[in-house]
Amino acid sequence: MSGHSTAAFDAAEFRKALGSFATGVTIITTRAPDGTPMGLTANSFNSVSLSPPLVLWSLANTSMSLAAFRVAPYWAVHVLATDQEELSARFARRGESKFAGLDIESGVGGVPLLKGCSARFQCRTAFQYEGGDHVIFLGEVLAFDRNEAAPLVFHGGRYAHATRRDPLGVKPRSAYLEGSFGDDFLGYLLGRSHFRMFAQIRRHLEEAHLTDQEFYVLSSLTLKRAMTVRDLDAGMAGVLDENSHRAIKSLVQHGLAREAVAEAGVEGPAYELTDAGREAALRVISAAKAVESQVLERLGAGEAPVLKSLLNRLLGVIDPESAALWDASAESKAPTP
Ligand SMILES: Cc1cc2nc3c(=O)[nH]c(=O)nc-3n(C[C@H](O)[C@H](O)[C@H](O)COP(=O)(O)O)c2cc1C
Repeated sequence: MSGHSTAAFDAAEFRKALGSFATGVTIITTRAPDGTPMGLTANSFNSVSLSPPLVLWSLANTSMSLAAFRVAPYWAVHVLATDQEELSARFARRGESKFAGLDIESGVGGVPLLKGCSARFQCRTAFQYEGGDHVIFLGEVLAFDRNEAAPLVFHGGRYAHATRRDPLGVKPRSAYLEGSFGDDFLGYLLGRSHFRMFAQIRRHLEEAHLTDQEFYVLSSLTLKRAMTVRDLDAGMAGVLDENSHRAIKSLVQHGLAREAVAEAGVEGPAYELTDAGREAALRVISAAKAVESQVLERLGAGEAPVLKSLLNRLLGVIDPESAALWDASAESKAPTP
């Protein structure tokens, strides 16, 4: 731990030290006397009192919203959900018409209310205090609403996720052979989750008369209009390897895929979905998505974005090249029927 006395106070270090306190992220809105909707991103929000219900936050003296909040009888605090990072960035920009294109509701005193947040508190200004280079607003909560959406978190100057921890005392089990795997071994957790989830998807594949390998190849072909054998190999690396060639042949035999004209300079044949292939792919993929929804619902709606974000990071670490397949898909989006 590095120490800093007030005599030699390094502003950047002070900011960093304050940033070690993880907070949620809010957007505070009000309506200016001329009717203009105003708002800004703030993480200085905090609860103060339950009875009476009071909350506070602080606003920089340099903020363009200051004049409006100074005279505002009412304002609203929106606790942002984990998928509202873009909204947070939009309201952290100075001035600008931050509300353009947003679907807003009208709250107490005509205060603009944003949708899709974890919680909203509609407040009446109770007190204002000078607080150095900020003004502290203390509000009496007149109304609030909330849902179970996972919150957006701010920590160390970056957005983060919050996730529930396992209760204390739940220790990973270890194998009878000391030094062998515990059940917190990543390979075990990922592998077993994958196989158990895929087992639920497989019965939909059976209905469509598709093997696992054919399904992998079929769904890969939905990423890009035409894929070369090399693309398919890259997509299937470590999953199918030589089996992908057998699977593509079988898809062609069943009329679900066909050879496509490869782009100039591209080696080997390329493949694309036929109409029947596209239909089969969409049918099984929508069944697979339904399985995903059920699994994630049981996990808890709030945890799904956290899990996906972590798995995406893991994939980026383990298989940085996987992103290229998806990047290529953006360039050649198939028209939606
Ligand atoms: C995560 C985050 C938290 C913030 N918290 C505050 C805050 O508590 N108080 C504040 O005055 N500004 C805060 N800001 C900065 C304001 O959102 C930013 O200065 C904004 O441009 C102010 O808008 P305005 O000048 O239009 O009023 C925060 C920004 C971010 C990204």
